[in-house]
Amino acid sequence: MIIKPEIQGVVARSAHPIGCEASVQKQIDYVKSAKPIKNGPKRVLILGSSSGFGLAARIALTFGGSQADTIGVSFERGPSEKGVGSAGWYNNIFFKQKAEREGSKAINIVGDAFSDKVREQVIEAIETHFDGEVDLIIYSLATGVRPKPYGDGMWRSSIKTIGESATGATIVLENDSWQQTTVEPASKEEIESTIKVMGGEDWESWIDTLINSDSIAPSCKTIAFSYIGPECTHPIYHEGTLGRAKVDLHQTSHALNLKLANYGGGAYATVCKALVTKASVFIPAFTPYILALYKVMKAQGTHETCIEQMQRLFSDKLYNPQGVPVDGERLLRIDEYELASDVQEQVSTLMGQMNEENFKSVGDYAGYKQEFLQLNGFDIEGVDYNQEFDFEELVSLKP
Ligand code: NAI
Repeated sequence: MIIKPEIQGVVARSAHPIGCEASVQKQIDYVKSAKPIKNGPKRVLILGSSSGFGLAARIALTFGGSQADTIGVSFERGPSEKGVGSAGWYNNIFFKQKAEREGSKAINIVGDAFSDKVREQVIEAIETHFDGEVDLIIYSLATGVRPKPYGDGMWRSSIKTIGESATGATIVLENDSWQQTTVEPASKEEIESTIKVMGGEDWESWIDTLINSDSIAPSCKTIAFSYIGPECTHPIYHEGTLGRAKVDLHQTSHALNLKLANYGGGAYATVCKALVTKASVFIPAFTPYILALYKVMKAQGTHETCIEQMQRLFSDKLYNPQGVPVDGERLLRIDEYELASDVQEQVSTLMGQMNEENFKSVGDYAGYKQEFLQLNGFDIEGVDYNQEFDFEELVSLKP
């Protein structure tokens, strides 16, 4: 069989295993050549470790100077009669192979991070492989649903505005088309459900679980990722349902910081740059901003993807011997290049010019689409996409 990209709307329905391996390798090569992480953690738990920021953090901490051992939790699909499986499935497999080859432990737990079963598996893995303690917990789940306790249904997130509706364009990757979109205001229940899914409650409950099982090492830190963005994106993000959930996450970071202070550690909500990931392509009316941002930051030489962001976070900020630099709201910022005033001035000029006809030339659509394809193992230099796969061989690969 030959594996081709299949996109439905903004969702990838196929993934290329060799391309995923090449993409993991490319990230490893980057961190090996970048400024190394000094005084970094040795035993790291990553919730949401198979793609985006979580995978990049795992690669940075293993290969970028800290030589960490990692336990990664993710929710991914392997090959079956329904298809070849998800990119994250293969990222897990190839990350583990490469980490073990260099002497690092890499334990993959594939299952629902909201479930008790996965919590038990994680605690057992910490006991078995980490001498019972973790030095860093990274909370990087991105999902649209969270099960309610006692099998009582699901909370579902809604990416909506609060108060007024907002209009903008959504670009459908499947057919490269620009669609004018109106995002309607959320109901009170939709706001509350989004906070349940993407806010801080589950992060806090993970840290409580680890405190209760005596799994927190001295100086243990925890981080979770957030986004704020410039004013032009606020109606759909920062002042919308997702932003409300992120504010909840920021507040949780303060509560967790107090809890971890007992161990000499700390908790930080880390504000990242806008990037193409499996999760972010879902945000309606957001793509024109990313297209303009990519164009400006690439021209300026300040564009970063997840891997550059994570290596810089650990080498310059979280393990800075002078202390963790935070802003007035105690947020750890790695979005400073995105929010620089000269970048934002140029971005708003481009956004003012961008329309249905010219978005591919005014914005960096080629770069956006390429990054999306690469997340799924396609369009990566040096990979032979005409290579035949033996399905049984794919099935035999285990995370
Ligand atoms: P992603 O979709 O690339 O990764 C999400 C990870 O969560 C995957 O490893 C997936 O397997 C895992 N996951 C999802 N549901 C799960 C479940 N029930 N159990 C176990 N694992 C599960 O997403 P991305 O973009 O890396 O997002 C991570 C965090 O970063 C999110 O909080 C997001 O809001 C935040 N962020 C993203 C930005 C962006 O532009 N992409 C910007 C700033 C923050």
